[in-house]
Amino acid sequence: METARKILITGGAGFIGSHVVRLFVNSYPNYTIFNLDTLTYAGNLENLRDVESKPNYQFLKADITDAAALEDFFAKYGFDGVIHLAAESHVDRSIHGPTQFAQTNVIGTVNLLNVAKNYWAHNPAVNGVKNRFYHVSTDEVYGSLGDEGLFTEETPYDPRSPYSASKASSDHFVRAFYHTYKLPVVISNCSNNYGSYHFPEKLIPLAIHNIKNNFPIPVYGKGENVRDWLFVEDHARAIDVIFHKGVNGETYNIGGHNEWKNIDLIYLLCKIMDTKLGRPEGTSAKLIAFVKDRAGHDLRYAINSSKLQRELGWVPSLQFEEGLEKTVEWYLSNQDWLHHVTSGDYLKYYETQYHQR
Ligand code: NAD
Ligand code: DAU
Repeated sequence: METARKILITGGAGFIGSHVVRLFVNSYPNYTIFNLDTLTYAGNLENLRDVESKPNYQFLKADITDAAALEDFFAKYGFDGVIHLAAESHVDRSIHGPTQFAQTNVIGTVNLLNVAKNYWAHNPAVNGVKNRFYHVSTDEVYGSLGDEGLFTEETPYDPRSPYSASKASSDHFVRAFYHTYKLPVVISNCSNNYGSYHFPEKLIPLAIHNIKNNFPIPVYGKGENVRDWLFVEDHARAIDVIFHKGVNGETYNIGGHNEWKNIDLIYLLCKIMDTKLGRPEGTSAKLIAFVKDRAGHDLRYAINSSKLQRELGWVPSLQFEEGLEKTVEWYLSNQDWLHHVTSGDYLKYYETQYHQR
C-alpha cells in the first residue's frame, strides 16, 4: 500500500487535469486527491462524474489568483504535493485577450508557489513524505521550429504568442523558486494532446463536432503547420511517473514522436468520420474551409522525449490512428457532454447537488 498522501491538483476539471485526477484517484486509493478549480468556461465537473463519489476525491472551488483561499486550503488540508495544471490554455483566446493569461498563468502560478513555499517551510515533511511542486507546461515555450530539428530540454525559450509567453514566464518563476528558496520543483513541457473531454474550441474536437453537424471545418492558412500529437492518457501517465520519480530542479519533455501537418490530420479525421457515420468516402472532406491564418502562427512543434524515456522509463502507448479512432468514437457516443459543456447545463445541475450535501 502506498503512503497516505494529500495531493493538490489544480485545473482538474479541465481536459488534461481530469485525466490526471482520474488516474491518481483510481491508482492511489491511499492518497487523497484535492481538485482545485475555479470552473472557467473550460472547466467542467462532468469530466469527473465517474470519480466524484470516490472517498479519496474532493473538489475545492477556488481561483489560483486568490492567495488567501490557497493559504486557507493548505492550512486546512495539509497538502504534501502539488500538481499544477490550472491555466488559460487556448492560443486564439490569448491573441484576443492577453491580460487574463498573465493573470492566471503568471500571477496564479506565483501565488501557488508562494503559498506552497510558506506552508512547507513550517511543515517540511507534512504527512511524512517529501514535498513536491510539479508544474505542467507546454512545448510552445520553445518557440517555432523550421522543417528540421526537435525541441530538447536545452532548447532556449522563445515564446511567440501571449499564451506561450505567459507559460514561459510561469516556468521561469518555478525555476526561480527552486534556485532561490530550494522549493522542490519539477517541470514538464508537453506537446499537443488529444482525446476525450477536450474542449471543442481546439482543432480536433472542433473538427469532429463540425463534421458530425455538416459545418465547415476551419483550417488556418494552408494547413501546413505541424503539431506533435500525444494521446492525453499517455500524458497523464507521464505526469504520474515524473511526479513520483522525477528529480528536483529537472525538466522533462513529453511528446509522441507523432508529427502531423494540420491538413493531413484533417483528411485522416474526415476519413475516420466517413466510416463511423456511414457516409461515402470523401463526403466529410468537402467541408474543409481554408480560413485566415492565426496571427503569429508557429510553424512546427516537435518534441524529443528521450530523457523521459531513458531516465524514467515512460513510453507512449498508442499509435495515432488508433487513438484518433477511439477519440472519434468517444465524441460520437458522448454528444450530451458536448451539449452540456458548451451550454453550462451540467454546472448548474452540479451546483444544485453540491449545495444540497
Ligand atoms: P483546459 O483549458 O482544458 O483546462 C484548464 C483548467 O484550469 C479548467 O478546468 C479551468 O477551469 C481551470 N482554471 C483556469 N483558470 C483558473 C484559475 N484562475 N484558478 C483555478 N482554476 C483555473 O486546459 P488543458 O488543455 O487541460 O491544459 C492543462 C495544462 O496543461 C495547462 O497548464 C496547459 O498549459 C498545459 N498543456 C496543455 C496541452 C494541450 O495540448 N492541451 C499541452 C501541453 C501542456
Ligand atoms: O503544443 C501544446 C499546446 O497545444 C498547448 O500548450 C495548448 O494549450 C493547446 O491548446 C495546443 O495549442 P495549439 O495552438 O497547437 O492547439 P489548437 O488545437 O488550437 O491548434 C492546433 C493547430 O490547428 C494549430 O496549428 C492551429 C490550427 N487550427 C486550430 C483551430 C482551433 C486550425 O487550423 N483551425 C482551427 O479552428
